[in-house]
Amino acid sequence: MDQVATAALPSASHPGAEWWRSAVIYQIYPRSFADSDGDGMGDLPGIAARLPHVARLGVDAVWLSPFYRSPQADGGYDVADYRAVDPLFGTLADFDRLLERAHALGLRVIVDLVPNHSSDEHPWFQAALRTPAGSPERACYIFRDGRGPAGDVPPNDWRSVFGGSAWSRAPGDTQWYLHLFDRRQPDFDWTHPEVRAEFESILRFWLDRGVDGFRVDVAHGLVKAPGLPEWSGQATMIEGEERRDMGPMWDQEGVHEIYRDWHRVLASYPGDRMMVAEAWVKPPSRLARYVRPDEMQQAFNFDYLTALWDAAELRRVIDGSLGAAAAVGAPTTWVLSNHDTVRHASRYGLAVPGSRPLGIDAAGEQPDEALGLRRARAMALLTLALPGSAYIYQGEELGLPEHTTLEARHRQDPSFFRTGGVETGRDGCRVPIPWEAEAPGFGFSPAGATWLPQPEGFRAYAVDRQEGVPGSTLELYRHLLRLRREHGLGQGDLVWEASPPSVLALRNGAVRVVINLGKTPVPLPEGRLLAASLLPEGEVGLPGNAAVWLAAG
Ligand code: BGC
Repeated sequence: MDQVATAALPSASHPGAEWWRSAVIYQIYPRSFADSDGDGMGDLPGIAARLPHVARLGVDAVWLSPFYRSPQADGGYDVADYRAVDPLFGTLADFDRLLERAHALGLRVIVDLVPNHSSDEHPWFQAALRTPAGSPERACYIFRDGRGPAGDVPPNDWRSVFGGSAWSRAPGDTQWYLHLFDRRQPDFDWTHPEVRAEFESILRFWLDRGVDGFRVDVAHGLVKAPGLPEWSGQATMIEGEERRDMGPMWDQEGVHEIYRDWHRVLASYPGDRMMVAEAWVKPPSRLARYVRPDEMQQAFNFDYLTALWDAAELRRVIDGSLGAAAAVGAPTTWVLSNHDTVRHASRYGLAVPGSRPLGIDAAGEQPDEALGLRRARAMALLTLALPGSAYIYQGEELGLPEHTTLEARHRQDPSFFRTGGVETGRDGCRVPIPWEAEAPGFGFSPAGATWLPQPEGFRAYAVDRQEGVPGSTLELYRHLLRLRREHGLGQGDLVWEASPPSVLALRNGAVRVVINLGKTPVPLPEGRLLAASLLPEGEVGLPGNAAVWLAAG
């Protein structure tokens, strides 16, 4: 296996040429990518069988969301055994085969690491519940006595990201435990040496199997401010435009020591292993602290994901991200969608394009699907031309919209239940992928079962409807990724060019990019057309909501 990997995936010959600096990384959400055994739930053999689609797309790596043993209270982000594959998804042998297959296809594999919390079914938490207050078992989690004469008031006022109190008590227990997410996701106490040792061992377990890196879940949350001071704000992963007071559960100085330790673990392995931080922190200079030379390699750029469809805002975010990352010698990343946010093809079709509702249901504003797709395709031209690393969320390459009319009875996201439905939640972006337009379940699963129902509209986006069709979103992504590689855009430099206010024009090496975020056509600069977000319709210049790549003269 290693030989295949080494042959297909050369390491950097010198520092600064590491693969992750310019990689395009494709996120696979295992529940929803492809099902091999017919239970309606995606699985590892299903992923392995569909990997040629990913390789043909022209990306460098895949990131797998959690597939570990888990009661699935939060789609697998509640891990009961960090070293085992959940039977829903297969076996460790299936994982090894998947890894081998990916490497043979020239794809690196990044796995998700969930260190902020475990599942309540994790043996350590179960042991903590079985032992009394003050036990060594309890010290690995954050147990506290309650307030009030009867101890029935939570230890402080922190709120869960998913709504409600961040504290729960097990039935009959005298103490409360902290959970920044669901009550079935107790937070570890990262001041405890055993927690640290355990996670280093987990890293080694997967590194020994040959993974190329880790996506680190809630990387800004592991360490809490000493004394757990009161904070009446609503802890949220998804923030607005302004820098908010982050709250004493986020972005504490102590997290960096952990990542420096992990950096040393990864560096002790051959090849360019990497970590990417999921850290919702602002401003970019704070985020850049996670990717200092001795910490992680990348951090998700959520400022880009959250930017509105607006030329000035996008330019400000692009400049800010590039500047902050460069200051610490890290590449920046570009990301528009993931399993936690409404798909961008739908967000760009909202009245405030690019805004991010916490899910969309039938009673909510329905996006303009055609306009959203048109803009999403234009954004693909901007995103894939930018220097650094880019992320693609499964289905994005098909132009897939959010499922915006999913009925409440199908919903599974804990945020929907914990907020009493005030937040619609994230199920709409997690709907199984359509592979074949005329097959049951659009080819997701042998007999058509799907753990969430697919909307009828997914048929038009099926892979086999787009394969080889000029102008389809799938062929557009393949074309852009080929050109990105040929022109070394990921390793390039961005130079802005003069443009009208609703237009962004930039040059990266031999490629000039023009995106028109306005409504009316604008004249195009000279240059041979390399790629266009729309098929030419005989229009003069560049229409609104469209983008082109031109050969820079
Ligand atoms: C993951 C979510 C998950 C949460 C708790 C997030 O950042 O991306 O899907 O619900 O962490 O683990």
